[in-house]
Amino acid sequence: MAGRIPPEFISELLARVDLAQVIGQHIQLKKAGREHKACCPFHQEKTPSFTVTTKGFYHCFGCGANGSAIGFLMEYTRCSFVDAVEDLARQVGMTVPRDARAQARQESQEPLYECMQQANRYYQEMLRKSDPAKEYARSRGLSGQICKEYQIGYAPAGYENVEKRLAGKFDRALLIKAGLLTKNDKRRVYDRFRNRLMFPIRDTRGRTVGFGGRVLEDQDTPKYINSPETPLFHKGRVLYGLYELQQRRGNLDQLVVTEGYMDVVSLAEAGVSNVVATLGTATTEDHLRQMGRFCRKFVFCFDGDDAGRAAGWRALEHILPVLRDGDEVRFAHLPEKEDPDSYIRNHGREVWQEFLSQSVLLEDYFFSQLTRDLDLEKLTDRSKLVQKARPLLSSMADSAFRDLMMNQLGELTDLTRNQLRISSKTTERQLAAQQGPKPSVGRPTRIRKMIRMLLEHPELAVQAQSSLLQSLDALKKPGMELFAEMVDLAQGVADVNTGGMIEAIRASRGEEDAQHLTRLLDWRPAGLDGVSAKGRLQNFEAGLRILQKERLVAWRSRLTKQQLGDDQTPGKPLSERQKKELQKVNEQLKELG
Ligand code: UTP
Ligand code: MN
Repeated sequence: MAGRIPPEFISELLARVDLAQVIGQHIQLKKAGREHKACCPFHQEKTPSFTVTTKGFYHCFGCGANGSAIGFLMEYTRCSFVDAVEDLARQVGMTVPRDARAQARQESQEPLYECMQQANRYYQEMLRKSDPAKEYARSRGLSGQICKEYQIGYAPAGYENVEKRLAGKFDRALLIKAGLLTKNDKRRVYDRFRNRLMFPIRDTRGRTVGFGGRVLEDQDTPKYINSPETPLFHKGRVLYGLYELQQRRGNLDQLVVTEGYMDVVSLAEAGVSNVVATLGTATTEDHLRQMGRFCRKFVFCFDGDDAGRAAGWRALEHILPVLRDGDEVRFAHLPEKEDPDSYIRNHGREVWQEFLSQSVLLEDYFFSQLTRDLDLEKLTDRSKLVQKARPLLSSMADSAFRDLMMNQLGELTDLTRNQLRISSKTTERQLAAQQGPKPSVGRPTRIRKMIRMLLEHPELAVQAQSSLLQSLDALKKPGMELFAEMVDLAQGVADVNTGGMIEAIRASRGEEDAQHLTRLLDWRPAGLDGVSAKGRLQNFEAGLRILQKERLVAWRSRLTKQQLGDDQTPGKPLSERQKKELQKVNEQLKELG
C-alpha cells in the first residue's frame, strides 16, 4: 500500500506540513522553547512527556510513541496511510500522485466506476421523468434540491431498463459484477433494481460505489435492496452521507450516526447536516476510523423500536474496544415508533437539537442498561452486574476512561479494583512503557552515526562537499544503501525533515528500515549535541572522507588482485580502461589524505 505514493512526494509533503499545527488540531499543545509539549495522547500520564520537535517528528519519552504527521493522524484518528497523506496534502494544497502500478490497478476498476456513474445518471434522469416517483419523494418531504444534492433517482419498473441503456457500452459481465444486473436460477439476467427510489452511495471521493433502492409502496417487500458486495462496495465499510457531509465541510463539533438513508436525507432537508447512516449493519471499527477524520464526538441514534434498542447495545459492544481517551460517545433512543426521519418531520429542528442534547453518555448508557433489571441492594444482583460488565470492560484498551469505568463499577458493587479481577487489554505500547527503554540501536558503527546525523540534519547532504557524496552506494557495507538513499532524498527534496525522511524510507524500503531509523533517534552519539553547525558539518565530512577512502581502497584492491592473481587464479594484466581507473583511484586517495 505504502509503495503507491512516491517517497519523494511524502517527504516533500511533510516538509510543507506544520506538525505542531496538525497535532494542535487534535490535542492541546504548550510551547516549550522552539518545541511543543503535551500529555501523551497514547498513554496515561500526568506530566507532559510528549514532545513535538521542529523536525517534523513527535516523540514521547514515556511510552516511546513517535512518528511524523502521517503517523500521528493514523494513530490518533485511526485513518489509513493513504487517507492521512490525502488529508495532509489537502491542507497544504498538494495533489497526491500515484505511481503507474497503482494507476493501472485503479484503471482496471475504472469501467466499474464508470458504469455505476452512468447508472446513477440514468436513475436521476428517470426520477425527473416519473411522476409517481417524484410524487413519492415529495410525500417523504424531499425537495428537488435535496434530491439533487444526494443524487436521488428512480429505477423504473421493468426487467431490462438498465440493461438496455448500458449494455451497448459495457459488458453484461461487468454490469453483473457492478451489481446493477442480477441472474436468477434459470440463468436469466435482469435489472436488480426495479420500481424503486434510488439512493446512490458515494465514497469519500464522490464516486458512486453502490445503491440502496426503496419500494414506493410500503406493502411491497423487501423494503430496501442494496447493492451486493462488489469490488467497489463493502457494506460494513461505507457510511451513507459521508461524502455529502464532507462537501459541506465547515467545522463539525459532533457527528450523528443514524440507521437509514431516509434519516440522513430528511435531516439534511431540515438543515441538519452532520448526519451519516450505517446501512443496516452494526457499527464497525472501520466506521469509527472514517468518522474520526471529522471529529471525536459521536452521537449514535437509534429508532424507538425493539430492533433499535438491540442495535444500540450491539453498537456499544463494537465501540468499546476501539474507544480512546478523548472520544465522546453518546447514545440517543427515539421515542416509540419514531425514527430520526419521522421525528424531524413531526417536531422540527429545534426539538431535534433538544433531543440530541439529552442523549446519554456511553458510560451512563452502559451502566443503566446493565443494571436495568437489577436490585443493587441484593448481593446476588451485584455479582450479576460484575459478571455482565467484566467481559465488556476487558475488551477495552487500557485508558484513563477504562479506569474510570472500573471505578464506577467498584462503587456500584462495593468491590475494590482487585476484587473485580478485570483483565486488561494492555497494548503493546503500554507494555513498552512499563518495560522501560527499547532495544538498543545495535553497535555504534560509523555508518550508523552518519545515518543518525543525516536523519536529524538532512541539510548536511546539501552542505557537504559534493565529491564526498559521490558513488557512495558502490561501497558494499551494511547500512550503506540506506545511507545513500537518504542522501539522495535530502538532496532531491527541498527542506526535507526528519519525519519526511522516515516516511519516505518507509514507503521505499519498508517497515524494518523505518523502524531502525526511528530507534536511531533515541541515540545521541557524540558529535551531535552541543556542536555548532559548522562543527557538525566538519564531523559529517570527516565521516564521509573515511567512507570514501574505504570505497576507493576496496576498488584498488580489486584491481591489484586481478593484476596479481591468487592461489586459484593466475594474474591478468589490466586493460587500458582499468589502468586509467587505478590511476584515478590513487589520485583521489591522495586528495583525501
Ligand atoms: P429502516 O427500516 O429503519 O429504514 O431500516 P428507514 O430508513 O427508516 O426507511 P423508511 O423510512 O421506511 O423509508 C434502516 C436501514 O436498514 C437498511 C437500509 O439501509 C435502511 O435505511 N434496510 C432496511 C435494508 O437494507 N433492507 C430492508 O429491507 C430494510
Ligand atoms: Mn424511516
